[in-house]
Amino acid sequence: MLIRNICCIGAGYVGGPTMAVIALKCPHIQVNVVDTNKERINQWNDDDFDNLPIYEPGLGEIVKKCRGKNLHFSINVEEMIEKADMIFISVNTPTKTKGVGAGKVCDLKWVEKSARQVANFSKGHTIVVEKSTLPVRTAEVIQLILNSCQNQSKLEFNNKSFDVLSNPEFLAEGTAINDLLKPDRVLIGGDNPEAIESLRIIYKRWVPESKILETNIWSSELAKLTSNAFLAQRISSINTIAALCESTGADVREVSRAIGRDSRIGSKFLDSGPGFGGSCFKKDILNLVYLAEYFGLPEVATFWNSVVSINNWHQHRISKLIIQKLFGSLSGKKIGILGFAFKANTNDTRESAAIQICKDLLEEGAILLIHDPKVEKKKIDQDLSYENKYTNSWNIVDCVEEALENVHAAVILTEWQDYSNINWHEISLKMIKPAWIFDARSIVDKQKVLDAGINIWRIGDGST
Ligand code: UDX
Ligand code: UDX
Repeated sequence: MLIRNICCIGAGYVGGPTMAVIALKCPHIQVNVVDTNKERINQWNDDDFDNLPIYEPGLGEIVKKCRGKNLHFSINVEEMIEKADMIFISVNTPTKTKGVGAGKVCDLKWVEKSARQVANFSKGHTIVVEKSTLPVRTAEVIQLILNSCQNQSKLEFNNKSFDVLSNPEFLAEGTAINDLLKPDRVLIGGDNPEAIESLRIIYKRWVPESKILETNIWSSELAKLTSNAFLAQRISSINTIAALCESTGADVREVSRAIGRDSRIGSKFLDSGPGFGGSCFKKDILNLVYLAEYFGLPEVATFWNSVVSINNWHQHRISKLIIQKLFGSLSGKKIGILGFAFKANTNDTRESAAIQICKDLLEEGAILLIHDPKVEKKKIDQDLSYENKYTNSWNIVDCVEEALENVHAAVILTEWQDYSNINWHEISLKMIKPAWIFDARSIVDKQKVLDAGINIWRIGDGST
């Protein structure tokens, strides 16, 4: 089946960039991205491309080229479903907060709602593609919903039919466009070769065929969870070694470099930091933990759960260390926080280590001056406001200098390029002595900080 019209439900971090790239590479396909959030859609349609709802290098140019031609953003969910030959489900799948599996398993209510919308409004044959990261066997749920409508529609003499494919997204935020244009692999899970071929034809327009992998649908779903679990596991592993380095006089950068030279280990994802964040890692591991428990494999569940618990421990470890270096009390002390996003080159703060570390410092009575070049003030306020506590204890500032004025310490939590170019000699004059830099991302020049008369602690550096 040759696809001429695509609808993507969910104009978020995954749906938006993915559809923009498909539209760019497939000018013969009309791509409609729909979302129930009107404000978000208005932002996607903003005349000023700096106002797109997502900050992703390269995204603005692609949207500029395609929007209004074969890429459209709207809230007309039903109409666009009706027109589509292929529908991507790219809605969010937050962790359930209550009921069975609370705190671990994904809440599938939006996926279910989307499947019902597809069932009701689609026409003819439709290929439904799971793009959201989902627990294994979700395709079965989607298929069941679609089938029930198929039976219903037969009665109404309005034949509809569906295929369900799994096509997980491996893009990382901040490099989404590059990851989409040059993926390591594209995974298509399904059981109907014709449906798989329809999606393969789309990717083949820019991805070499050898990189397009076919699997059964359950393997595809599980591969996505496993991929994120392995990546997160590497970060927890190196963060435990960082703690050991600090106690033994070793340096985690040197250890990483040494082990990364082993081609079996590889050099990527070995940077110790303040703990992993982002919308996927924790959620996906907890899903894996739930699956293992559900299938009676408690040892497997415990193994993967430890990746998350080490990450939590690690974040608190950094907070405790800051408190200890500042003479055991932060009461009334000003601390500059450099970076709030969960990593550089994104405005996303979901599960950012900065949230937990800032909360720990606020809990100790600190006053925070927070800077991030991309995260909106409103977002930081939302992330830190809990139980209406400490609302007057933080200020969000517009520049690095302001964040470091009259502070006892600066804590670097996101590896923004700007932070590696700070003139510490100038800053030193404005800081309260003894002043401290806590560099949880290893981006500042240690010697320059020391030469400026500031104390420094670096993650995993046993000599500081
Ligand atoms: C994605 C994946 O879909 C998720 O499974 C993965 O684990 C994280 O990344 P993401 O694109 O980051 O989600 O989520 P988000 O930016 O929240 O976007 C989802 C969009 O879906 C939102 O704009 C929301 O308004 C929209 N939505 C949700 C709908 O349009 N309809 C719904 O019924 C529910
Ligand atoms: C991740 C996966 O990389 C991607 O394939 C998947 O589709 C979605 O989840 P993302 O969450 O955007 O992408 O970011 P990623 O670059 O993987 O970083 C996740 C977290 O790990 C960040 O907080 C980052 O700072 C941290 N990290 C990463 C480290 O602490 N050290 C590293 O060496 C690498």
